[in-house]
Amino acid sequence: MPLQIIVGTQWGDEGKGRIVDWFAAHAAFVARYNGGDNAGHSVTVGSQLFKLHLIPSGILHPNAVAVLGNGMVINPKSLLAEKDMLRAAGIEVTPKCLHISHAAHLITPAHQAMDAALEAARGKGSIGTTGRGIGPAYTDKSARRGLRIADMLAPDFSDKLLAHLTDSNKSLAQLDAPALEIQPILDAFKSYAEAISPYVFDTSTELALALSEGKQVLAEGAQGTLLDIDHGTYPFVTSSTTTAPGVLPGLGLGLTSASGATVTGVCKAFQTRVGSGPFPTEVFDKLALRLRGTGANPWDEYGTTTGRPRRVGWLDGVLLRYAVRINGLTELVITKLDILSGFETLKLCVGYQRDGNILSDLPFGPSNIEAFEPMYEELPGWSEDVSRARRMDDLSTAARNYLTRISSLAGVPVSLVSVGPEREQVVLLD
Ligand code: GDP
Ligand code: IMO
Ligand code: MG
Repeated sequence: MPLQIIVGTQWGDEGKGRIVDWFAAHAAFVARYNGGDNAGHSVTVGSQLFKLHLIPSGILHPNAVAVLGNGMVINPKSLLAEKDMLRAAGIEVTPKCLHISHAAHLITPAHQAMDAALEAARGKGSIGTTGRGIGPAYTDKSARRGLRIADMLAPDFSDKLLAHLTDSNKSLAQLDAPALEIQPILDAFKSYAEAISPYVFDTSTELALALSEGKQVLAEGAQGTLLDIDHGTYPFVTSSTTTAPGVLPGLGLGLTSASGATVTGVCKAFQTRVGSGPFPTEVFDKLALRLRGTGANPWDEYGTTTGRPRRVGWLDGVLLRYAVRINGLTELVITKLDILSGFETLKLCVGYQRDGNILSDLPFGPSNIEAFEPMYEELPGWSEDVSRARRMDDLSTAARNYLTRISSLAGVPVSLVSVGPEREQVVLLD
């Protein structure tokens, strides 16, 4: 089927970028449909490590056009810096291979300042945002006062930007935050508009056309199911629809485009989270250090965007089953299996309990999960290094059993297992 949607099943950082890069080898388009530069997608190709925040991972394949869809919020300064980073690494980003929706929203320095001021005002109840201005930009979009990419190209943009900055300074004053100096921002956006204008396209029309011609379109999700604005651990979530159905409004596709789509959920072999919010299977101390790593390796659990140490824990099968349902997943990809080598036993959360009641599914979504106690199943671990495995037969019985148990808990097949960050470090299943 031409449309394949790739989403995170957890709280982000499941390895989506690396998996999109793997699937993108035959794609005509790789399109991001949500979020902004709060995302950090690391892709390793040979000796090069690419840290992408806005540009989809498909940019690393010459066959694919990378699309920034209308559902995104785009900081033009970050976008141009990312383009420069890619050029320095030998990847030329031209209007042939990068198309930006005219209807995507802009992130300005005022959104970033508001993000910081709102987090400071929340005090102990802070969300632990990435500070990239995501929430305030989506707030302006919903309030119908946002600035869009198309606005940036219109002759009256300076007036609109001036009005936005003047209003924002009033809001910042109410939060006791310093005002922004307006003129340098107006000047900077003039140059961003010139640099970005050749990349602006009607991406909704071109993606619909590509699908009607049977070309492969990969939709790259940012963040994960449990950070979804509606279906995540609200209020400790991001401000966009991260789940698979968000592909349709986020790329401007009709419902029928999704019929028969492959919906691939990327699931880390354990669980991680950055920022605040509930995490029933979280572990601490020595065990946490073992799962997180010390930071010596590029794949250790430290945020790609903010560098913060990620919270870590055992894989939560209850939340995984929820992700399968909310996204309509047709298959799972398991990443970072190699990190679990060397554990004598592995724990897998198969249910929750509270006041003597045992639940295998969430009663009212994941917002109140801190009230529950995880119930674990223990599975034998494996000692061998799996990073060279390329076929299921290369894995020990214990490793295969762990994958089979995840698949049976989720109720969908595992199609691919990642055993290292490099492109070829995958085990392909039938
Ligand atoms: P994303 O936000 O979902 O794209 O994930 P991130 O890029 O933020 O975090 C995933 C990290 O794990 C990156 O550093 C990847 O290079 C790395 N990674 C992905 N898959 C594997 C794997 O199977 N094994 C190891 N060791 N690292 C992996
Ligand atoms: P990728 O695409 C992990 C988290 C933040 C915070 C919450 C809200 O790399 O998986 P925001 O800045 O979006 O308002 O922050 O969401 N968060 C992520 N955590 N991976 C991400 O992206 C994230 N993007 C946002 O840590 O808890
Ligand atoms: Mg990430």
